Amino acid sequence: MLDLFPDSAAAPGGELAVGGVAASALAAEFGTPLLVYCEQTLRARARAYREAAPRARILYSVKAFPSVALLRLFAEEGLGAEVSALGELEFAERAGISGAQILVDGNNKSDEEISAAARAGAALVVDAFDDLDRAAAAGVSSLLVRVTPGVDAETHDAIRTGHTGSKFGLPPEDALAAIARGGIDGLHVHIGSQLLALGALRMTVDWLTAFMARARAELGWAPGTVDFGGGLGIRHVDGDPALPVDRFVGAIVDGLEQGCRLHGLPLPELILEPGRSLVGDGGVTLYRIGVVKRTGDATTYVAIDGGMSDNPRPQLYGAHFTGVLATRVVDPPAGTFTICGKHCESGDVLIDRLALPQPRRGDLLAVPATGAYTLGMSSNYNGVPRPAAVLVRAGEARLIRRRESLDDLLALEA
Ligand code: LLP
Repeated sequence: MLDLFPDSAAAPGGELAVGGVAASALAAEFGTPLLVYCEQTLRARARAYREAAPRARILYSVKAFPSVALLRLFAEEGLGAEVSALGELEFAERAGISGAQILVDGNNKSDEEISAAARAGAALVVDAFDDLDRAAAAGVSSLLVRVTPGVDAETHDAIRTGHTGSKFGLPPEDALAAIARGGIDGLHVHIGSQLLALGALRMTVDWLTAFMARARAELGWAPGTVDFGGGLGIRHVDGDPALPVDRFVGAIVDGLEQGCRLHGLPLPELILEPGRSLVGDGGVTLYRIGVVKRTGDATTYVAIDGGMSDNPRPQLYGAHFTGVLATRVVDPPAGTFTICGKHCESGDVLIDRLALPQPRRGDLLAVPATGAYTLGMSSNYNGVPRPAAVLVRAGEARLIRRRESLDDLLALEA
């Protein structure tokens, strides 16, 4: 029943607790909507990556949830950071992560971002020819070139990135031309996000080792580092296939070793940049239920105190979520309900049809697998302040991001 929830989730007496803290206590202390992160789960996912690839550098992809507290926690587990804009770099530096453990990505880096990467001593991923010139001028210490493998990953169109025609990376010929100019230490590929199958990933690893063989044959060059990006998906609803970290990483490590052996290439250092699979299933969102209303076509809407402003994934990617009534987890369902947000559009539906005990005003709805790309992609639509986030462990909750206030929003007005 709670298998989509964080590792520490339990329902003693029928009430959801995460990290040993009851949902109602969390909502009472910190308000709702509230993003609750389970420290045990976050550390377990980081360790799973370290164990699956002990010699690899694992960089948390900060975009999944920019948080100084989580970056520090991951740094304690030996992880660095992959950042794709100045703000994310600032978060990583604020968390005390050294430049040697930071990689700067992005398809349109500003001069400011490139000089900040140089100042931090971070490595940089070249995504266009002019990155190369500007990085050299700024004195960036280490460069990878992102190459577009022409692989269609098994995921939503909007988060597929390795196909021919992608705005990311350089086509193979251009990547070779960039390498020929000199100063490139390694290769980077990232084919997409929320991957729950291995086919496209395996093809990419094979493709990349063949590309390495070509670079050696044509240019006498071999990468010291190969970065396969992120991409491992998580389960959001019952019925989603499970793809554990060790199988995903194993496909990369084994494929790289085999490819290098096949082509007689030296084995490069490996970098991975997981985002969602580190923070996604460690996060639960708690909402307070308000209006419960039956419509003319017999739909019963259950309205929550958030919606597309704190989780736009259903609108952007047709993403599915599930949920439980946090204080009546084990009660039998009374019907099927549509969970909608409080925003001024009909598309503001978080969960289309969810079986629940009869929801009532004041109940708490807990939505699992919401730790990635929710708060990080949140907005202030309808002037709604962004939620708070807490980290829970061993019966204690710590605020890691305070709730936005109306004064915060008004402070931007000129
Ligand atoms: N590395 C690069 C270069 C990336 O572009 C990304 C994600 C990652 C690593 C991390 O990927 P992950 O392990 O999280 O799949 N907002 C979308 C996801 C966008 C992913 C963008 N790039 C969503 O909510 O599904």
